[in-house]
Order: sequence, then C-alpha cells, then structure tokens
Amino acid sequence: MKQYLQMTADELKAELNAVDNEYNAFAAKGLSLNMARGKPGPDQLDHSSALLTIVGDKNDVFSENKVDCRNYGGLDGLDESKTLFSAMLDVPADNVIVGGNSSLNLMFDFMAQGMFSGFDGEPWMKQGEVKFICVTPGYDRHFAICEYFGIKMLPVAMLSDGPDMEEVERLVKDPNVKGMWCVPKYSNPTGTTYSDEIVKRIAALKPAAKDFRIMWDNAYAMHFLDADNDDKLLSILDECEKAGNPDLAVMFSSTSKITFSGGGIAAIAASKHNLDLIKARMTIQTISGDKLNQLRHARMFPNPEALREHMKKHAASLKPKFEVVVNTLQSELGDLGIISWTEPKGGYFVSADTLPGCAKRVVGLCKDAGLVLTGAGATYPYGNDPLDNNIRIAPSFPPVDELKTAMKLFTVAVKKATLEMLIEQ
Ligand SMILES: Cc1ncc(COP(=O)(O)O)c(C=O)c1O
Repeated sequence: MKQYLQMTADELKAELNAVDNEYNAFAAKGLSLNMARGKPGPDQLDHSSALLTIVGDKNDVFSENKVDCRNYGGLDGLDESKTLFSAMLDVPADNVIVGGNSSLNLMFDFMAQGMFSGFDGEPWMKQGEVKFICVTPGYDRHFAICEYFGIKMLPVAMLSDGPDMEEVERLVKDPNVKGMWCVPKYSNPTGTTYSDEIVKRIAALKPAAKDFRIMWDNAYAMHFLDADNDDKLLSILDECEKAGNPDLAVMFSSTSKITFSGGGIAAIAASKHNLDLIKARMTIQTISGDKLNQLRHARMFPNPEALREHMKKHAASLKPKFEVVVNTLQSELGDLGIISWTEPKGGYFVSADTLPGCAKRVVGLCKDAGLVLTGAGATYPYGNDPLDNNIRIAPSFPPVDELKTAMKLFTVAVKKATLEMLIEQ
C-alpha cells in the first residue's frame, strides 16, 4: 500500500472511509480490553505459587543465622535476602538493604529524605528551587514523585543507547539540579539498556550540587525475553567508585515482577556512606521489615541459577505477547510510514511513536472502542508530551487472544487518527 504521506487528498479520504468501517465494527463489539499497566498475567503469578507454602510451620521460620523471622529486628534485612539481591544486581551483599514490598516506596522515601533532611548538607527544599533530570519517555510514577514534592522536572531525551549525555552534562552544572531518574535496563517504556559508555559517563558526572543523587531504578534487571540474548548492564556502583564518585548513585529494585506484584520484596544497593544515611532515617521509620517474606524469597531462590531458571518461565509467558505486538504493528502499519516502535529484548513495554499530534487521539479512539491504554502524555513530566506522539504499550496482562484483538484495534485507531490529522492539514 502507498504510504499515507504520499497519498492525494482523495486517496486519504477513501482510505479513511474504509478505516472508519473497520473502526466502527470494533466499536460495535462492546470490547473490554486493557493494555494500560505493566501487570504480570495470572499465568506468571502461578510461576511463584511455591512461595505460598515455602515457610510451612513454626519450626520453619528461622533464617540461616537462626533469626526468628516472626519477630522484630534486622532493620536492613535478612542476610540471605541480601545475597539474593546481590546476585540480581551484581553488587556485594554488604551494600544491600532489603526493605518492604515496594521499590517505589523506597524511592519515595529516599526523595523525601533529600527534600526534608538532605544528604550531608542542607535539605534540598531549603536550597531554593529543586530540579531533577527526567529521561523521557520515562516512568510516570517517577515523575509523580517529583510533582508531589514540587520538584521541577527537566526532560532529557532517551537516545538509542541511553540518555542524551551532552544535555545531562550541561544540566548538572546547575547546583539546584539535585538528581536524575534512570531505568537503566529494559527501560520503561522504550526497553533501552544503557551502553557501557553511557554508564561510565553517568558515573563520571561532576554535578555542581554536592548532594546530587542518581536514582538508578533497576526494576528490570532480570527480565529478559530470551535468556541467551540478555543485555549486559555495567554495575553503576563499581563505575562510580572507579570514577571517584562512590556516593553518586543509589540503586533500587524489587521482585515485584519476579514473584508477586505488591507481595514481593524490594531493595536498595548503595555505598556504605549512603546506606548509613538511609539506615539512620529507616531507624525512625520502622522497627523492621517483613522478614518472613524475605525468608520465603531467599528459600525460593537459593542461588543465582534458580533465579535465572525462574525468569525463563516469565520469558516464556511474555515473549509470545511481545511478538503479537511487534508482528501486528509490522503487518498492519509497517508499510504506511506513520509509526515507529521499539523491539525490546526484555522488560514490560513497547514504546510507539506516531506522527506528531496523533497520540492523544489514538488513545481516545481505543478507549471509545473498549481498549484502555496508558494515557497519552503519561511518559513525560507533567503528562505533557511536547509532540503528542508517544504511546506506551503494556502487553503483559491480557491473554494472547485478547491481545491480538487489542493490537488490531490499536492499529486501526492509529490509521484513523493519522488520516484525520492529514486530511485536516
Ligand atoms: C521502572 C519501574 N520502577 C518501579 C516499578 C514499581 O516497582 P515496585 O513494585 O517494586 O514498587 C515499576 C512498575 O511498573 C517500574 O516500571
């Protein structure tokens, strides 16, 4: 088929007529489909069913060091749960704190600490306007934390191998820029893994703010789609140490998409100095985490191989879904020159870019025909996608059959929105 941008006005109108018929047929079906958030499918949750019974009775509640996991104590987590994250994140176990069920919660608390208490200096909020670098498109909940604290967000473009570092290096000269959000592996939503060069450049940053912190959200460290083709990410803590910046980066992760979402365990990995600052705050916040859940997880994954084998089960659940997304985009829209998309090797999302000015309309059309997508703009600070062209596709939750219908509808909506826009112009 001819590319839309090469069609005459009459050809565009005829095509819109045909696409309208397709769209109306979808709308008449009364569909109720959802590709809005990166939730694991029920089959993926079943992969971790052993966790429900792995700590069986009252004689079974002791850690390797004979800690009674039913009781208070052990603020920074059980040793064996630290070992688990050490393998996951490629950091020494001594650099790990294991917390509660959510890494987002740990990130929120760390940002609150920066704002209200500070890191080796005045609280951020007492130093004038606080600004943060946000790689875009990015994770909406990071942006929501900044908005909550009134932190001004500075968008920096995600390039093919990580953030636009020239722009980052320029921005960190401002002492009011206090940090940067990064999802360095299988990034949300583009699926990008930062190259070695980018990791080294981030680790070597010399921010004007001495209390600058990189929020290294390694949520998808283990989330390959093909175990033999897993991206390798350099260890940011090692690189920071080598660059003479040991306290620059703080890493966060969780098992939310390894075991149970909302029922997993989360961790921070950082330099000893940063861990001391964090523990000083945590001592006020809580008496101890849920060590029973830490114990369950440590038993479920006694070694890195067990964890890797488990992640292969997730990959087997997810890969066919990513294939449906990418294959449908290719077969329905590949020749039309109206959309580009990422083909991630891991993570939970595909990021699609329509022609400028079409994303909101596509999401609206899908919604009206019974398919909920992540809101257009959500992948940008303040919900403001300057080109109105980015859409995050989250294929993990719906079963494959539903996903096929959802993706077909999505492609019809992309055609319709684009044709309407071109005809109006
Ligand atoms: C980049 C990223 N970080 C963090 C989270 C949430 O993690 P948790 O469940 O550990 O709070 C998500 C969930 O989608 C995510 O995509």
